Amino acid sequence: MKVSIIGTGYVGLVTGTCFAEVGHKVICVDCDDEKVKLLQQGGVPIYEPGLEELIQKNVASGGLTFTTSTREGVEKSDIIFIAVPTPPLPDGSVDLSFMEGVARDIASVMTSYKIVVDKSTVPVKTGDKVVETIRRYCKSQVEFDVVSNPEFLREGFAVGDFLKPDRVVVGVRSQRPVTAMREMYAPFNCPIIVTDINSAELIKHAANSFLALKISYINAISVLCEASGANVQEVANGIGMDHRIGRAFLDSSLGFGGSCFPKDLSAFIKISEKLGYDFALLKEVQCINARQMDRFFKKIVDTLWVLKDKKIGVLGLAFKQNTDDVRMSPAIELCQRLQKEGAILRVYDPKAMEKAKSLLQNVTYVADMNSVAEGCDALVVATEWPEFKKLDLERVRKVMTHPIMFDGRNLFDLEEMERLGFIYKSIGR
Ligand code: UGA
Repeated sequence: MKVSIIGTGYVGLVTGTCFAEVGHKVICVDCDDEKVKLLQQGGVPIYEPGLEELIQKNVASGGLTFTTSTREGVEKSDIIFIAVPTPPLPDGSVDLSFMEGVARDIASVMTSYKIVVDKSTVPVKTGDKVVETIRRYCKSQVEFDVVSNPEFLREGFAVGDFLKPDRVVVGVRSQRPVTAMREMYAPFNCPIIVTDINSAELIKHAANSFLALKISYINAISVLCEASGANVQEVANGIGMDHRIGRAFLDSSLGFGGSCFPKDLSAFIKISEKLGYDFALLKEVQCINARQMDRFFKKIVDTLWVLKDKKIGVLGLAFKQNTDDVRMSPAIELCQRLQKEGAILRVYDPKAMEKAKSLLQNVTYVADMNSVAEGCDALVVATEWPEFKKLDLERVRKVMTHPIMFDGRNLFDLEEMERLGFIYKSIGR
Protein backbone atom coordinates (compact mmCIF):
# COMPACT_ATOMS: atom_id res chain seq x y z
CA MET A 1 0.00 0.00 0.00
CA LYS A 2 1.11 3.58 -0.50
CA VAL A 3 1.59 5.35 2.82
CA SER A 4 3.23 8.41 4.24
CA ILE A 5 4.31 8.97 7.81
CA ILE A 6 4.39 12.55 9.01
CA GLY A 7 7.03 13.00 11.70
CA THR A 8 10.20 10.92 11.65
CA GLY A 9 10.86 10.89 15.34
CA TYR A 10 11.32 7.65 17.16
CA VAL A 11 7.80 6.32 16.48
CA GLY A 12 7.47 7.61 12.91
CA LEU A 13 10.84 6.33 11.81
CA VAL A 14 10.34 2.84 13.21
CA THR A 15 6.78 2.71 11.81
CA GLY A 16 7.80 3.85 8.33
CA THR A 17 10.79 1.55 8.18
CA CYS A 18 8.89 -1.53 9.35
CA PHE A 19 5.98 -0.86 6.94
CA ALA A 20 8.53 -0.64 4.11
CA GLU A 21 10.15 -3.86 5.32
CA VAL A 22 6.89 -5.78 4.86
CA GLY A 23 6.41 -4.42 1.35
CA HIS A 24 4.44 -1.17 1.62
CA LYS A 25 5.65 1.88 -0.28
CA VAL A 26 6.53 4.45 2.37
CA ILE A 27 7.29 8.17 2.29
CA CYS A 28 8.53 9.61 5.59
CA VAL A 29 7.93 13.33 5.94
CA ASP A 30 9.68 15.62 8.42
CA CYS A 31 9.98 19.39 8.66
CA ASP A 32 13.58 19.10 9.88
CA ASP A 33 15.68 19.57 6.75
CA GLU A 34 18.89 18.35 8.42
CA LYS A 35 17.27 15.17 9.66
CA VAL A 36 15.80 14.37 6.26
CA LYS A 37 19.21 14.90 4.61
CA LEU A 38 20.85 12.62 7.17
CA LEU A 39 18.25 9.88 6.58
CA GLN A 40 18.51 10.21 2.79
CA GLN A 41 22.26 9.61 3.13
CA GLY A 42 21.72 6.46 5.20
CA GLY A 43 22.34 8.07 8.61
CA VAL A 44 20.09 7.46 11.61
CA PRO A 45 19.47 10.13 14.28
CA ILE A 46 18.69 7.63 17.09
CA TYR A 47 20.16 4.37 18.36
CA GLU A 48 17.62 1.59 18.06
CA PRO A 49 18.88 -1.99 17.60
CA GLY A 50 18.30 -3.28 14.06
CA LEU A 51 16.86 0.00 12.72
CA GLU A 52 19.84 1.28 10.74
CA GLU A 53 20.19 -1.93 8.73
CA LEU A 54 16.46 -1.95 7.90
CA ILE A 55 16.51 1.72 6.82
CA GLN A 56 19.50 1.19 4.56
CA LYS A 57 17.99 -1.97 3.04
CA ASN A 58 14.62 -0.37 2.29
CA VAL A 59 16.06 2.93 1.06
CA ALA A 60 18.25 0.91 -1.35
CA SER A 61 15.25 -1.06 -2.64
CA GLY A 62 13.25 2.16 -3.16
CA GLY A 63 10.48 1.19 -0.74
CA LEU A 64 11.39 3.90 1.78
CA THR A 65 11.98 7.56 0.92
CA PHE A 66 12.32 10.77 2.93
CA THR A 67 11.09 14.27 2.15
CA THR A 68 10.30 17.59 3.81
CA SER A 69 7.20 18.05 1.64
CA THR A 70 3.86 17.22 3.24
CA ARG A 71 2.24 17.83 -0.14
CA GLU A 72 4.38 15.11 -1.73
CA GLY A 73 3.59 12.68 1.10
CA VAL A 74 -0.15 13.32 0.96
CA GLU A 75 -0.47 13.31 -2.84
CA LYS A 76 1.41 10.05 -3.27
CA SER A 77 -0.32 8.06 -0.50
CA ASP A 78 -3.68 6.55 0.33
CA ILE A 79 -3.01 6.39 4.05
CA ILE A 80 -1.28 9.13 6.04
CA PHE A 81 0.04 8.35 9.52
CA ILE A 82 0.62 11.21 11.94
CA ALA A 83 3.50 10.51 14.30
CA VAL A 84 4.39 13.89 15.75
CA PRO A 85 5.44 14.69 19.31
CA THR A 86 2.73 15.36 21.90
CA PRO A 87 4.90 16.86 24.66
CA PRO A 88 3.70 17.78 28.13
CA LEU A 89 2.64 21.32 29.02
CA PRO A 90 3.77 22.77 32.36
CA ASP A 91 0.52 21.64 34.05
CA GLY A 92 0.99 18.03 32.87
CA SER A 93 -1.63 18.16 30.11
CA VAL A 94 -0.74 17.45 26.48
CA ASP A 95 0.48 19.98 23.93
CA LEU A 96 -1.45 19.12 20.77
CA SER A 97 -0.18 21.99 18.63
CA PHE A 98 1.97 19.74 16.39
CA MET A 99 -0.99 17.43 15.87
CA GLU A 100 -3.26 20.34 14.97
CA GLY A 101 -0.63 21.84 12.66
CA VAL A 102 -0.17 18.60 10.75
CA ALA A 103 -3.96 18.08 10.45
CA ARG A 104 -4.19 21.55 8.90
CA ASP A 105 -1.26 20.88 6.54
CA ILE A 106 -2.81 17.61 5.38
CA ALA A 107 -6.20 19.28 4.87
CA SER A 108 -4.72 22.08 2.81
CA VAL A 109 -3.15 19.73 0.23
CA MET A 110 -5.72 16.90 0.16
CA THR A 111 -7.51 16.53 -3.17
CA SER A 112 -8.85 12.94 -3.01
CA TYR A 113 -10.11 10.45 -0.39
CA LYS A 114 -7.45 9.78 2.30
CA ILE A 115 -7.28 7.84 5.52
CA VAL A 116 -5.59 9.95 8.19
CA VAL A 117 -4.26 7.79 11.01
CA ASP A 118 -3.17 9.11 14.38
CA LYS A 119 -0.22 7.15 15.80
CA SER A 120 0.88 9.72 18.37
CA THR A 121 -0.20 9.30 21.98
CA VAL A 122 -3.13 11.69 22.45
CA PRO A 123 -5.92 12.35 24.96
CA VAL A 124 -9.24 10.64 24.36
CA LYS A 125 -11.47 12.70 22.02
CA THR A 126 -8.52 14.05 19.99
CA GLY A 127 -9.80 12.14 16.95
CA ASP A 128 -12.96 14.29 16.95
CA LYS A 129 -10.82 17.42 16.93
CA VAL A 130 -8.70 16.11 14.06
CA VAL A 131 -11.88 15.45 12.04
CA GLU A 132 -13.15 18.99 12.75
CA THR A 133 -9.78 20.53 11.87
CA ILE A 134 -9.43 18.69 8.56
CA ARG A 135 -12.99 19.62 7.60
CA ARG A 136 -12.38 23.26 8.47
CA TYR A 137 -9.12 23.64 6.56
CA CYS A 138 -9.89 21.45 3.56
CA LYS A 139 -10.43 23.65 0.51
CA SER A 140 -12.86 21.35 -1.31
CA GLN A 141 -15.41 18.77 -0.13
CA VAL A 142 -12.88 15.91 -0.19
CA GLU A 143 -13.88 12.76 1.67
CA PHE A 144 -11.59 11.39 4.37
CA ASP A 145 -11.57 9.13 7.40
CA VAL A 146 -9.71 9.61 10.66
CA VAL A 147 -8.40 6.50 12.43
CA SER A 148 -6.70 6.07 15.80
CA ASN A 149 -3.90 3.51 15.76
CA PRO A 150 -1.80 3.85 18.93
CA GLU A 151 1.72 2.44 19.10
CA PHE A 152 2.99 0.11 21.83
CA LEU A 153 6.70 0.07 20.97
CA ARG A 154 9.32 -0.09 23.65
CA GLU A 155 12.49 1.84 22.96
CA GLY A 156 15.38 -0.55 22.56
CA PHE A 157 13.07 -3.28 21.26
CA ALA A 158 10.98 -1.19 18.87
CA VAL A 159 11.75 -3.02 15.63
CA GLY A 160 10.91 -6.41 17.13
CA ASP A 161 7.79 -5.00 18.82
CA PHE A 162 6.59 -3.51 15.53
CA LEU A 163 7.23 -6.61 13.45
CA LYS A 164 5.74 -8.99 16.04
CA PRO A 165 3.02 -7.03 17.88
CA ASP A 166 0.86 -8.58 20.61
CA ARG A 167 -2.06 -6.76 19.00
CA VAL A 168 -2.86 -3.83 16.77
CA VAL A 169 -5.57 -1.40 17.84
CA VAL A 170 -7.59 0.36 15.15
CA GLY A 171 -10.16 2.96 16.24
CA VAL A 172 -12.64 4.06 13.56
CA ARG A 173 -15.78 6.16 13.13
CA SER A 174 -17.08 4.12 10.18
CA GLN A 175 -16.32 0.80 8.49
CA ARG A 176 -14.87 2.42 5.36
CA PRO A 177 -11.17 2.54 6.40
CA VAL A 178 -11.19 -0.89 8.09
CA THR A 179 -10.28 -2.99 5.03
CA ALA A 180 -7.31 -0.77 4.19
CA MET A 181 -6.10 -0.83 7.81
CA ARG A 182 -6.39 -4.61 7.90
CA GLU A 183 -4.39 -4.78 4.68
CA MET A 184 -1.69 -2.53 6.18
CA TYR A 185 -1.25 -4.88 9.10
CA ALA A 186 -1.94 -8.21 7.36
CA PRO A 187 1.78 -9.04 6.95
CA PHE A 188 2.24 -9.00 10.74
CA ASN A 189 -0.16 -11.90 11.40
CA CYS A 190 -1.38 -10.51 14.70
CA PRO A 191 -4.78 -9.92 16.32
CA ILE A 192 -6.34 -6.66 15.13
CA ILE A 193 -8.79 -5.01 17.51
CA VAL A 194 -11.23 -2.79 15.64
CA THR A 195 -13.02 -0.39 17.96
CA ASP A 196 -14.28 3.18 18.19
CA ILE A 197 -11.78 6.06 18.22
CA ASN A 198 -12.34 7.09 21.85
CA SER A 199 -11.67 3.55 23.09
CA ALA A 200 -8.54 3.25 20.95
CA GLU A 201 -7.19 6.51 22.35
CA LEU A 202 -8.00 5.43 25.91
CA ILE A 203 -6.36 2.02 25.40
CA LYS A 204 -2.97 3.69 24.92
CA HIS A 205 -3.03 5.78 28.11
CA ALA A 206 -4.65 2.95 30.07
CA ALA A 207 -1.92 0.51 28.94
CA ASN A 208 1.03 2.74 29.79
CA SER A 209 -0.49 3.74 33.13
CA PHE A 210 -1.09 0.11 34.02
CA LEU A 211 2.51 -0.81 33.22
CA ALA A 212 3.75 2.12 35.32
CA LEU A 213 1.41 0.97 38.09
CA LYS A 214 2.95 -2.51 37.97
CA ILE A 215 6.43 -1.05 38.43
CA SER A 216 5.32 1.19 41.31
CA TYR A 217 3.54 -1.76 42.88
CA ILE A 218 6.68 -3.88 42.95
CA ASN A 219 8.71 -0.87 44.09
CA ALA A 220 6.29 -0.45 47.02
CA ILE A 221 6.74 -4.16 47.77
CA SER A 222 10.51 -3.57 47.71
CA VAL A 223 10.12 -1.22 50.69
CA LEU A 224 8.37 -3.99 52.64
CA CYS A 225 11.07 -6.46 51.60
CA GLU A 226 13.82 -4.21 52.88
CA ALA A 227 11.96 -3.68 56.15
CA SER A 228 11.31 -7.39 56.68
CA GLY A 229 14.38 -9.09 55.22
CA ALA A 230 12.47 -10.60 52.28
CA ASN A 231 13.76 -10.52 48.71
CA VAL A 232 11.75 -8.58 46.11
CA GLN A 233 12.96 -10.75 43.25
CA GLU A 234 11.65 -13.87 44.98
CA VAL A 235 8.33 -12.11 45.58
CA ALA A 236 8.15 -10.94 41.93
CA ASN A 237 8.83 -14.47 40.71
CA GLY A 238 6.27 -15.86 43.12
CA ILE A 239 3.45 -13.53 42.13
CA GLY A 240 4.51 -13.32 38.48
CA MET A 241 3.94 -17.02 37.89
CA ASP A 242 0.24 -16.45 38.39
CA HIS A 243 -0.74 -15.92 34.76
CA ARG A 244 -3.33 -13.35 35.84
CA ILE A 245 -0.45 -11.18 37.10
CA GLY A 246 2.51 -12.08 34.85
CA ARG A 247 6.22 -11.60 35.62
CA ALA A 248 6.87 -8.77 33.11
CA PHE A 249 7.31 -5.24 34.49
CA LEU A 250 7.88 -6.48 38.02
CA ASP A 251 11.58 -5.58 38.15
CA SER A 252 12.11 -3.33 41.10
CA SER A 253 14.31 -0.36 40.26
CA LEU A 254 15.26 3.16 41.23
CA GLY A 255 12.07 4.19 39.42
CA PHE A 256 10.74 4.30 35.89
CA GLY A 257 11.65 7.11 33.51
CA GLY A 258 11.83 7.87 29.82
CA SER A 259 9.77 9.99 27.50
CA CYS A 260 6.58 7.94 27.87
CA PHE A 261 5.54 6.75 31.35
CA PRO A 262 6.11 9.99 33.31
CA LYS A 263 4.48 12.11 30.59
CA ASP A 264 1.59 9.72 29.92
CA LEU A 265 0.80 9.36 33.62
CA SER A 266 0.58 13.13 34.10
CA ALA A 267 -1.50 13.42 30.94
CA PHE A 268 -3.89 10.64 31.98
CA ILE A 269 -4.38 12.22 35.41
CA LYS A 270 -5.25 15.54 33.68
CA ILE A 271 -7.51 13.85 31.12
CA SER A 272 -9.36 12.09 33.96
CA GLU A 273 -9.68 15.38 35.83
CA LYS A 274 -11.26 16.99 32.77
CA LEU A 275 -13.65 14.05 32.53
CA GLY A 276 -14.62 14.57 36.17
CA TYR A 277 -12.65 11.75 37.79
CA ASP A 278 -9.87 12.12 40.36
CA PHE A 279 -7.48 9.31 39.39
CA ALA A 280 -5.85 9.21 42.85
CA LEU A 281 -4.46 5.73 42.17
CA LEU A 282 -2.22 7.10 39.42
CA LYS A 283 -1.13 10.02 41.60
CA GLU A 284 0.10 7.47 44.11
CA VAL A 285 1.95 5.65 41.29
CA GLN A 286 3.81 8.90 40.65
CA CYS A 287 4.55 9.41 44.36
CA ILE A 288 5.91 5.88 44.80
CA ASN A 289 8.13 6.44 41.79
CA ALA A 290 9.54 9.69 43.16
CA ARG A 291 10.07 8.14 46.61
CA GLN A 292 11.95 5.21 45.08
CA MET A 293 14.62 7.61 43.80
CA ASP A 294 14.69 9.42 47.17
CA ARG A 295 15.14 6.12 49.00
CA PHE A 296 17.99 5.07 46.73
CA PHE A 297 19.71 8.42 47.14
CA LYS A 298 19.29 8.20 50.91
CA LYS A 299 20.92 4.76 50.88
CA ILE A 300 24.00 6.30 49.27
CA VAL A 301 24.08 9.21 51.73
CA ASP A 302 23.50 6.95 54.74
CA THR A 303 26.45 4.79 53.72
CA LEU A 304 28.94 7.40 52.47
CA TRP A 305 27.78 10.13 54.89
CA VAL A 306 29.32 13.28 53.35
CA LEU A 307 29.25 13.20 49.54
CA LYS A 308 31.39 16.28 48.98
CA ASP A 309 34.59 15.28 47.14
CA LYS A 310 33.68 11.58 47.21
CA LYS A 311 34.56 9.91 43.93
CA ILE A 312 31.61 7.90 42.63
CA GLY A 313 31.48 5.72 39.52
CA VAL A 314 28.15 5.46 37.69
CA LEU A 315 27.26 2.66 35.29
CA GLY A 316 24.42 3.63 32.96
CA LEU A 317 22.99 6.97 31.85
CA ALA A 318 20.19 5.94 29.50
CA PHE A 319 16.70 5.65 31.03
CA LYS A 320 16.88 1.91 30.36
CA GLN A 321 18.87 -0.71 28.46
CA ASN A 322 19.31 -0.83 24.66
CA THR A 323 18.79 2.86 24.00
CA ASP A 324 20.76 6.10 23.86
CA ASP A 325 17.74 8.02 25.13
CA VAL A 326 18.42 10.07 28.26
CA ARG A 327 15.12 11.95 28.43
CA MET A 328 13.70 11.76 31.96
CA SER A 329 16.37 9.22 32.79
CA PRO A 330 16.51 8.23 36.48
CA ALA A 331 20.25 7.70 35.97
CA ILE A 332 20.77 11.32 34.93
CA GLU A 333 18.60 12.58 37.80
CA LEU A 334 20.67 10.55 40.23
CA CYS A 335 23.95 11.90 38.81
CA GLN A 336 22.67 15.45 39.08
CA ARG A 337 21.67 14.90 42.71
CA LEU A 338 25.07 13.39 43.52
CA GLN A 339 26.81 16.32 41.81
CA LYS A 340 24.71 18.80 43.75
CA GLU A 341 26.05 17.30 46.97
CA GLY A 342 29.62 17.78 45.68
CA ALA A 343 30.42 14.22 44.53
CA ILE A 344 32.98 13.78 41.75
CA LEU A 345 31.57 11.49 39.06
CA ARG A 346 33.09 9.01 36.62
CA VAL A 347 30.36 7.75 34.31
CA TYR A 348 29.91 5.17 31.56
CA ASP A 349 27.09 4.11 29.24
CA PRO A 350 27.47 1.87 26.17
CA LYS A 351 25.36 4.15 23.94
CA ALA A 352 24.08 7.23 25.76
CA MET A 353 27.24 9.20 26.61
CA GLU A 354 27.00 11.60 23.64
CA LYS A 355 23.38 12.47 24.37
CA ALA A 356 24.10 12.76 28.12
CA LYS A 357 26.73 15.45 27.58
CA SER A 358 24.22 18.27 27.25
CA LEU A 359 22.59 17.29 30.57
CA LEU A 360 25.64 16.25 32.54
CA GLN A 361 28.77 18.40 32.58
CA ASN A 362 31.87 18.34 34.77
CA VAL A 363 31.94 14.56 34.97
CA THR A 364 34.54 12.19 33.54
CA TYR A 365 33.12 10.15 30.67
CA VAL A 366 34.99 6.85 30.80
CA ALA A 367 35.57 4.72 27.70
CA ASP A 368 35.00 1.25 29.17
CA MET A 369 32.85 -0.15 31.95
CA ASN A 370 35.64 -1.90 33.85
CA SER A 371 37.55 1.38 34.34
CA VAL A 372 34.68 3.41 35.74
CA ALA A 373 35.34 2.39 39.32
CA GLU A 374 39.04 3.38 39.33
CA GLY A 375 39.87 5.27 42.52
CA CYS A 376 36.19 5.46 43.49
CA ASP A 377 34.65 5.44 46.96
CA ALA A 378 31.54 3.80 45.54
CA LEU A 379 30.06 2.43 42.33
CA VAL A 380 26.42 2.93 41.31
CA VAL A 381 24.47 0.83 38.78
CA ALA A 382 21.71 3.01 37.35
CA THR A 383 20.69 1.33 34.06
CA GLU A 384 20.01 -2.35 33.41
CA TRP A 385 22.36 -2.82 30.43
CA PRO A 386 22.90 -6.61 30.13
CA GLU A 387 26.66 -6.17 29.63
CA PHE A 388 27.00 -4.74 33.13
CA LYS A 389 26.37 -8.27 34.38
CA LYS A 390 29.68 -9.21 32.76
CA LEU A 391 31.60 -6.63 34.78
CA ASP A 392 35.00 -7.91 35.93
CA LEU A 393 34.02 -7.65 39.60
CA GLU A 394 37.42 -8.85 40.94
CA ARG A 395 39.14 -6.07 39.04
CA VAL A 396 36.52 -3.52 40.00
CA ARG A 397 36.98 -4.31 43.69
CA LYS A 398 40.77 -4.02 43.44
CA VAL A 399 40.73 -0.60 41.72
CA MET A 400 38.22 0.97 44.11
CA THR A 401 39.26 2.92 47.18
CA HIS A 402 36.36 1.26 48.98
CA PRO A 403 34.43 -1.70 47.53
CA ILE A 404 30.94 -0.25 47.95
CA MET A 405 28.29 -0.81 45.30
CA PHE A 406 24.77 0.63 45.07
CA ASP A 407 22.79 -1.36 42.54
CA GLY A 408 19.59 0.38 41.38
CA ARG A 409 18.73 -2.50 39.06
CA ASN A 410 19.43 -5.63 41.11
CA LEU A 411 21.88 -6.99 38.54
CA PHE A 412 24.14 -8.98 40.83
CA ASP A 413 23.82 -11.99 43.08
CA LEU A 414 23.82 -11.14 46.80
CA GLU A 415 25.96 -14.09 47.90
CA GLU A 416 28.47 -13.62 45.09
CA MET A 417 28.90 -9.95 45.99
CA GLU A 418 29.47 -10.84 49.62
CA ARG A 419 31.97 -13.53 48.65
CA LEU A 420 33.85 -10.96 46.54
CA GLY A 421 34.06 -8.64 49.53
CA PHE A 422 31.71 -5.89 48.40
CA ILE A 423 29.46 -3.82 50.62
CA TYR A 424 26.53 -4.28 48.28
CA LYS A 425 23.24 -2.39 48.55
CA SER A 426 20.52 -3.14 46.05
CA ILE A 427 16.75 -2.67 45.96
CA GLY A 428 14.29 -4.65 48.04
CA ARG A 429 16.65 -7.40 49.09
C1 UGA B 1 6.76 2.31 27.11
C2 UGA B 1 5.82 1.11 26.91
O1 UGA B 1 6.43 -0.07 27.44
C3 UGA B 1 5.52 0.90 25.43
O2 UGA B 1 4.58 -0.15 25.26
C4 UGA B 1 4.94 2.21 24.85
O3 UGA B 1 4.68 2.11 23.48
C5 UGA B 1 5.94 3.33 25.08
O4 UGA B 1 6.19 3.45 26.49
C6 UGA B 1 5.38 4.61 24.52
O5 UGA B 1 4.35 5.06 25.00
O6 UGA B 1 5.89 5.11 23.49
P1 UGA B 1 9.42 2.68 26.91
O7 UGA B 1 9.17 3.98 27.61
O8 UGA B 1 10.24 2.66 25.67
O9 UGA B 1 8.00 1.99 26.50
O10 UGA B 1 10.17 1.70 27.92
P2 UGA B 1 9.77 0.54 28.95
O11 UGA B 1 10.48 -0.68 28.57
O12 UGA B 1 8.31 0.46 29.12
O13 UGA B 1 10.44 1.11 30.30
C7 UGA B 1 9.99 2.32 30.91
C8 UGA B 1 10.72 2.56 32.21
O14 UGA B 1 10.33 1.62 33.20
C9 UGA B 1 12.24 2.45 32.14
O15 UGA B 1 12.84 3.45 32.92
C10 UGA B 1 12.52 1.08 32.70
O16 UGA B 1 13.82 0.92 33.21
C11 UGA B 1 11.47 0.99 33.78
N1 UGA B 1 11.10 -0.39 34.18
C12 UGA B 1 10.56 -1.23 33.27
C13 UGA B 1 11.29 -0.79 35.50
O17 UGA B 1 11.77 -0.01 36.35
N2 UGA B 1 10.93 -2.05 35.86
C14 UGA B 1 10.38 -2.92 34.97
O18 UGA B 1 10.04 -4.07 35.38
C15 UGA B 1 10.19 -2.50 33.65
